[in-house]
Amino acid sequence: MKVLVVGGGGREHAIIKKLKESKKKPELYAAPGNGGIAADAVCVPIKATDIDAMVEYAVENGIDFCVVAPDDPLVLGMVDAMEEKGIRCFGPSKAAAALEGSKVFSKGLMKKYGIPTAAYETFDDPQKALEYVKAQNSYPTVIKADGLALGKGVIIAEDFDAARDGIHSIMEDKIFGQSGNRIVIEEFLTGPEVSVLSFTDSHTLVPMISSMDHKRALDGDQGLNTGGMGTVAPNPFYTEKIAKQCMDEIFIPTMNAMNAEGRPFKGVIYFGLMLTPNGPKVIEYNCRFGDPETQVVLPLLQGDLLEIFEACRDERLADVAFSFSARSAACVMLASGGYPVKYESGKEITGLDENGQCDKAVIYHSGTKRVDGKFVTAGGRVLGVSATGKDLMQALGRAYEAAEGISFEAMHYRKDIGKRALSAVR
Ligand code: AMP
Ligand code: GLY
Repeated sequence: MKVLVVGGGGREHAIIKKLKESKKKPELYAAPGNGGIAADAVCVPIKATDIDAMVEYAVENGIDFCVVAPDDPLVLGMVDAMEEKGIRCFGPSKAAAALEGSKVFSKGLMKKYGIPTAAYETFDDPQKALEYVKAQNSYPTVIKADGLALGKGVIIAEDFDAARDGIHSIMEDKIFGQSGNRIVIEEFLTGPEVSVLSFTDSHTLVPMISSMDHKRALDGDQGLNTGGMGTVAPNPFYTEKIAKQCMDEIFIPTMNAMNAEGRPFKGVIYFGLMLTPNGPKVIEYNCRFGDPETQVVLPLLQGDLLEIFEACRDERLADVAFSFSARSAACVMLASGGYPVKYESGKEITGLDENGQCDKAVIYHSGTKRVDGKFVTAGGRVLGVSATGKDLMQALGRAYEAAEGISFEAMHYRKDIGKRALSAVR
């Protein structure tokens, strides 16, 4: 069976490594993949958003199954285009991917179906948005671009001036392009954040083990928002009682709401939750696996990922048995100096073996290239160093020990991944 994974980051590397364990022994392809993924799959130089070229490649090369991992090709409709040519896919249709692709859509869905989320209003006129902020006079306030913005489309404004600047830059300067034609302004929530990824075939929804991302660039949750600087799983704030409440009040209602809207969702729904004093609320939905959540969730999966993917596609998820290990996992992201703003690429990486791995942890490559047999940096986030252990302390110890053996010019990483989680388990 030939399986093509679309994407080229650490999430895709984690998916590919798990697919390699499948008893179906798939032949694995990645497009575009990266320097580290090349040790596990045949890399094909096609951009993840180039739908025509991707479909053509899949058809001409007899691809049997395609996993569309990143948000942008999903929102652009790659799954629809592949399925039209008879290529079975894991991932939501374009209509279902609106759950992430449009915040105006997802907020409207939650309001209509009573799914708990921050109170909000939407605007397509910057003047009206400003008047609303002024009338609310409540800070911080949260301003979100409607569309995709590389995880950076959220501005938390501490006062009126910051809100005015934020609205201006999104709606008039268009710093996120057309994604900023409309905005959502919402209530500021507080509490620990939890990521719950779930498999669904639109009839059955199975949550994966919970995790915690660390979005800010610097220790102590300082600095700019990034795609994610590290993760741990499970998330100790997410108790069994909260999990049950989320299943009943958020997860199942979301799956049912998408069906009721004629947008059945098949794939991964990522619930970005905040555990507020008034109960769990949805901060955001994503229509895909998280990065770097996948790098701690899939190592704990006990089951055949390819079988799960096919079952989601074929609407028979209820027939597949899988579970999650009682162990813990941690991932520390090694980033280029200057990320998430400006950084240089092409720096030689030392401390990896010929497969881009080391003996103390699993290395998921996010942004690397292979040049003359050596690994060099090729992105802001470079390597995710992942380890499991009998508990979180052990997993973190292993990941950090492995990280210390790797280096490249201007490399930086957070030294406090899992610190908040550890304080909750003590
Ligand atoms: P998002 O891109 O929607 O995940 O938002 C990025 C980050 O902004 C989240 O991980 C939260 O930390 C923060 N955030 C988003 N919405 C809110 C909100 N309503 N209240 C407080 N923080 C928020
Ligand atoms: N780590 C956050 C995300 O994948 O959106």
